[in-house]
Amino acid sequence: MPQRITIADAARHVGESVEIPGWLYNLRKSGKIVFPILRDGTGIMQCVALKSALPEDVFEELKHLTQESSLIVRGTIRAEPRAHGGYEMDIESVEILQKVSESDPYPITPKDHGVDFLMDHRHLWLRSQRQHSIIRVRHEIIKAVRDYFDDHGFTLVDTPIFTPAACEGTTTLFEVNYFDNDKAYLTQSGQLYNEADAMAFGKVYCFGPTFRAEKSKTRRHLTEFWMVEPEMAYADLEEIKRVAEEMVIYVVGRVLEKRREDLKILERDVAKLEGVQAPFPRLSYDEAVKNLQQHGSEIQWGGDFGGGDETILTQQFDRPIMVDRFPSAIKAFYMAPDPDRPEVALGVDVLAPEGYGEIIGGGQRIHDLDLLLRRIEEHQLPREAFEWYIDLRKYGTVPHGGFGMGIERCVAWICGLEHVRETIAFPRILYRLRP
Ligand code: 4AD
Ligand code: MG
Repeated sequence: MPQRITIADAARHVGESVEIPGWLYNLRKSGKIVFPILRDGTGIMQCVALKSALPEDVFEELKHLTQESSLIVRGTIRAEPRAHGGYEMDIESVEILQKVSESDPYPITPKDHGVDFLMDHRHLWLRSQRQHSIIRVRHEIIKAVRDYFDDHGFTLVDTPIFTPAACEGTTTLFEVNYFDNDKAYLTQSGQLYNEADAMAFGKVYCFGPTFRAEKSKTRRHLTEFWMVEPEMAYADLEEIKRVAEEMVIYVVGRVLEKRREDLKILERDVAKLEGVQAPFPRLSYDEAVKNLQQHGSEIQWGGDFGGGDETILTQQFDRPIMVDRFPSAIKAFYMAPDPDRPEVALGVDVLAPEGYGEIIGGGQRIHDLDLLLRRIEEHQLPREAFEWYIDLRKYGTVPHGGFGMGIERCVAWICGLEHVRETIAFPRILYRLRP
């Protein structure tokens, strides 16, 4: 039996007789030769089948094979500089597992389909090259994020998904039934539990799905998205910003190092990514508001940035920017106030360049017991649900903080995509729960 290999591994098997299992991506014919183009998930390879080299019936079957039929090809690998990927296979035999019916052909053809059609066929759309590149870049980003924290003394401590209370405000909670008429909510962020974990371990991170019942139909919002959240005991806002900057630079560097081929398929301008170096410009919210007003935005001090504002701000810089000290009134209950100016919070947002908007939100948390109790009251949060969180301020409280980076927004930026819907295999967005 010939050795089974993948297309990505073909370079190491030149001159050998091997087999590759896969699917028919495309087929070209020219008289007594057919060129089945095979895909196997690791790459795409053109194969060459000569009529004279195959039994008549096999050749005929191959000649009429339909897109996405499953098959195993056997033959010899040959270097072919003109071929896509640099290698071809001279076919010696073929085993067809399933021929896709001619009367019910594979719905996605090389012609242009509308986005709605493609989203309805997301389970099949994932087989296309562009989607492969995006998902591979996503994989690299996730791996790089984990490596960064693992190599910098952070312990992975995963946080729960069913939670009894809100973290990021009550308006975007997904509610679920939790036995005996109890209610639970799908987590919006692991942060509150992360704070308990940081008091136990010092430096921790969690990485999981988070949920927001946001009625925002924008190119940046999902209802289910993945977030990585580091949290550090004995850390102030400056340290949190330093870690965020270092991590983003590391992640972009890793994608440039390992996924250049994919960035090329995505036609990403890599020069823009290569410019992602320290230091990131740092602005206060006050400075950002002045800047926006000078550029024609309607924003007033006290208001939150709209998507348009983020675009105006980030287009002025060639790398991500860090905006800190937002008005406390527009930020979450847990944000520590600036001791010199209590009306602003020690929070920071990192905005990606090229108009991609906020990829990171974080900051220093309130560590003073009395102030936290006041905030819980002001925000009308159910104190019972927060007793355990309040305990953290009773037993050895220290300045601490961290941030959350949304993976899909990060993928959209690094891949240069117009919309977050392509950054995850099965996106959950407003009005889309299927497939
Ligand atoms: O700014 P956010 O709401 O911050 C938090 O949740 C903090 N508790 C994190 C922390 O400090 N541990 O969300 C953080 C990031 C955003 O910057 C964005 O990248 C992403 O999560 N995000 C979303 N991504 C996609 N769709 C949505 N609806 C998102 N909402 C937030
Ligand atoms: Mg935010």
